[in-house]
Amino acid sequence: MKIAILNGPNLNLLGKREPSIYGYQSFDQFFLLLKEQFPQVSFTYFQSNHEGELIDSLHKYGFEYDGIILNAGAYTHTSIAIADAISAIESPVIEVHISNVHSRESFRSHSYIAAVCKGSISGFGLNSYTLALQSFLY
Ligand code: DQA
Repeated sequence: MKIAILNGPNLNLLGKREPSIYGYQSFDQFFLLLKEQFPQVSFTYFQSNHEGELIDSLHKYGFEYDGIILNAGAYTHTSIAIADAISAIESPVIEVHISNVHSRESFRSHSYIAAVCKGSISGFGLNSYTLALQSFLY
């Protein structure tokens, strides 16, 4: 099973960024453990702070991978272009968020991508990614 994990803006700062909301673990630390936990999965990981690069990576992996786990960061709440890219590709995409976007500022409650994703997982810390992966596997 080939799974791509795509992280959007500011998620390169996980571990340092607002740790009371996003935790103290870097994505690299988490990703090492995830790969150990799921050796049967062939992972690709990509992070970008740029909307167009995230769209390019959806195009790149979206006709080849069994599933995409996407944390689009703040683009979740603004980007029709990312929603269109998800509609355009074949691979199923799961939207993930580390924080519970519904318990924060009201602008975070709206997602442009939720309607075109297979499902959405929000609020379980980095475990949101694990839950998304499990839903592709089992
Ligand atoms: C986030 C939630 C977004 O609202 C925010 O802009 C992020 C991170 C999360 O993982 O909780 O950058 O996607």
